[in-house]
Amino acid sequence: MTRRGKPKQRTQQRRDERRWHHAPAPRVGVPVRVEPPRRVPIPPLPKTTLAPSPGRWLWTCRAGSEAPLYEELAWLKRAPKLLGPALVESDAPGEASPTFARSGFPVSALAASPAEAAAALPTSPLHLEAWVPDTDAANARSGEALAWSETIEALRPSGAVDTPWKAFEAGALLAQVCLWSAGQAAVGVIPARDALSLAAGGRTRMKRTGEAPSRAAMKLDEALDWYGVSPGKGDVCVDLGSAPGGWTRRLVERGAKVLSVDPAHLAPDVRAHPKVKHVQQSAFDFAPDGPVDWLFCDMAWRPLEVAQLLGKWARRRWAAQLVANLKLPMKDKLPVLFRVRHTLEGAGWARVRMRQLYHDRDEVTVTARLA
Ligand SMILES: C[S@@+](CC[C@H](N)C(=O)[O-])C[C@H]1O[C@@H](n2cnc3c(N)ncnc32)[C@H](O)[C@@H]1O
Repeated sequence: MTRRGKPKQRTQQRRDERRWHHAPAPRVGVPVRVEPPRRVPIPPLPKTTLAPSPGRWLWTCRAGSEAPLYEELAWLKRAPKLLGPALVESDAPGEASPTFARSGFPVSALAASPAEAAAALPTSPLHLEAWVPDTDAANARSGEALAWSETIEALRPSGAVDTPWKAFEAGALLAQVCLWSAGQAAVGVIPARDALSLAAGGRTRMKRTGEAPSRAAMKLDEALDWYGVSPGKGDVCVDLGSAPGGWTRRLVERGAKVLSVDPAHLAPDVRAHPKVKHVQQSAFDFAPDGPVDWLFCDMAWRPLEVAQLLGKWARRRWAAQLVANLKLPMKDKLPVLFRVRHTLEGAGWARVRMRQLYHDRDEVTVTARLA
């Protein structure tokens, strides 16, 4: 498998995208009229990765998402700078939580050895995360991150917090050591409870199980992990764009009942499950018999039209909670996301959060609950 997925999946994605371009828009609501902030010129990525600046924030993102992350930070007036593949720096973000950042921290020092990194960290108990940016070139240096981590741990006073979840529960710090170049690290700390992600470099790897090994299922697991709540026994879920059934399977495994809506076929084991009802039609034509607990959506369709459909669900109060994965194959993702947020909030979805999670490709995960 390549980093961008199996050739068969890529072909399917291209086929889906071709269908959107030629299909007429479904009638789901009024057109969105709001205008996003003025576009920002994006400078080219530097040929060699630049050193982060102590006193500023260092962000890491999916390789290829530097431009939307830069523009988001520019819209927030945080003076962003592209440092290199998967790395952007900016002024402190305040309350903002950029959609295209996987993780970020304030850089307190630069270190050219594990000893310098250890000396730059506070002596209080903390969980240490040493990582490389998620690019092919940097991933080849992941052994270096492991070696730095072991040496720093050995140099530090005892009492390390052994998992990031324990650091979260204890209100402790996550120490960040980003090896932005060979032998060169940016060092800082962030309270675990304020971190965008508890995983090193924001790479929240979900476990593959024998039963449901699809990327789709891992996307859902990561989304629910990030949301912090998940459907349980007796909850009724609607899953729009559900075929071949990875999300639906995961939801019934959690004890929920699922109305699985997709014109395409479900995998035989999912279709035959007693808690699954396959509604073989377009999500744009579907209406539930009554309100449900959760709306899930992973439809391969144009994001603004999907947002209008999700907006209809909020206006009619058809679902209490939302988890959606929006497809963003277009170059200019940010103006689209701006309109998506406006559509969802205007329709009555509250606490709308958006993030390009680790298992998302040209996609973002959206969660919300009914106002
Ligand atoms: C990425 S796949 C979904 C994968 C699924 N979540 C899983 O876990 O197996 C996208 C799905 O969107 C479906 N889709 C596209 N347009 C749709 C529509 N108008 N209504 C319902 N489903 C649609 C496609 O048929 C396809 O099965």
